[in-house]
Amino acid sequence: MTARERAPETTPGRNGSPRGPGTPDEHALRRRAVAALSTARERTALLTSCVDDAELTAQHSPLMSPLVWDLAHIGNQEEQWLWRAVAGREALRPEIDSLYDAFQHPRASRPSLPLLAPAEARAYAADVRGRVLDVLDGARFEGGGPLVDSAFAFGMIAQHEQQHDETMLITHQLRKGPAALSAPPPPRAAAASLTDDEVLVPGGPFTMGTSDEPWALDNERPAHTRIVPAFLIDTAPVTNGAYLAFVADGGYHDERWWRPEGWAQIRAHSVEAPLFWRREGGQWLRRRFGVTEPVPEDEPVLHVSWYEADAYARWAGRRLPTEAEWEKAARHDPATGRSRRYPWGDDDPGPVHANLGQRHLGPAPAGSYPEGASPLGVRQLIGDVWEWTASDFLPYPGFRAFPYKEYSEVFFGPEHKVLRGGSFAVDPVACRGTFRNWDLPVRRQIFAGFRTARDAEPV
Ligand code: AVJ
Ligand code: FE
Repeated sequence: MTARERAPETTPGRNGSPRGPGTPDEHALRRRAVAALSTARERTALLTSCVDDAELTAQHSPLMSPLVWDLAHIGNQEEQWLWRAVAGREALRPEIDSLYDAFQHPRASRPSLPLLAPAEARAYAADVRGRVLDVLDGARFEGGGPLVDSAFAFGMIAQHEQQHDETMLITHQLRKGPAALSAPPPPRAAAASLTDDEVLVPGGPFTMGTSDEPWALDNERPAHTRIVPAFLIDTAPVTNGAYLAFVADGGYHDERWWRPEGWAQIRAHSVEAPLFWRREGGQWLRRRFGVTEPVPEDEPVLHVSWYEADAYARWAGRRLPTEAEWEKAARHDPATGRSRRYPWGDDDPGPVHANLGQRHLGPAPAGSYPEGASPLGVRQLIGDVWEWTASDFLPYPGFRAFPYKEYSEVFFGPEHKVLRGGSFAVDPVACRGTFRNWDLPVRRQIFAGFRTARDAEPV
């Protein structure tokens, strides 16, 4: 046996070996944290190496940061939380903190900041990561306080990087020019196996949110009981084909369907269809990651604002589900009365359950992923497209900001609408039955679609 073959067993520490202090549970948490951080960094590397330096520093849309800002911001957040807050070490580059503080500089102004150049940003993020992996080698995850218990801060930072990886994928979608990224299409199987258009979710209490999911973020906590009257919800997200009927029926020109602010927005910007759609010779085309093709009718509709989703639902004689309805459809098991982690149960997401993690660069046809269905048969709640809900982003009863108010608390209020379920661009580490996303109702560049609901007839 060569020294090299023996090395993984005999070298202590670093990169997820089960060595280091602690109980078997702590070893398992250390391995999970290293794996989550490494998966995120591979994705970040792909998103920032497939275009040249000029494209990394360019602003592809005033809605987005230059990609090189996201890259150094990822490293800076990791430095602040894992190197400084958890390990108690000195700041590595205190002079750059303010450049990468999202609250000090709106996205549109970021290209004019004296940002680290691509090579410097990469080296900085890699330096932080090397130090953090050393911290992880010696870290304990029990009885050390809420930041380190269950490796929470490590999970939080892996989720943060993955959230920016989704943001960077949005930037790639907004970028003009030929494709820089590619991936195999999602599996086309099983879409035809849907028998019902909608599913009845019985009325009564269910448990919303969580108090025991170790890496759940502050806004998902605490678990609490909600009474949700019976309702019907679409078995699958609304498709391009269904949405085309709304477009063809003049939906964008009929004020009856629109909230006043939504109507004002589509009139002001001459919006006639989802973002990235274009009509040519009587046919609707869409551009996705540099490729233009006819709009596929069986795919979930994508790149619609909350106002467009709301107007479609009203046109269809339906409404958006509330956030509580969405979570009850996704987590409530009528057989046991318990709320599960995911629609399919408590197992972590695998490739048979959901379209997550940028494995595919678009949603699968509506009705896909039968193995990811909820007990009542609702499909694709997790993955594919973020789903707009009717609800404002508000704290749960008993909410406590942790570890910082700028993650959730400063965004609570009626100006942000909640999105649920994650998209094809979200990694499983940042997606759960309880995970809450939010955005302004005018936003269209995010990977958002929706499904509709209606009240059950009173019995
Ligand atoms: C939860 C997706 C709305 O991207 O603005 C990233 C996540 N927070 N850095 C965002 C986040 C701080 C956040 N969203
Ligand atoms: Fe961030």
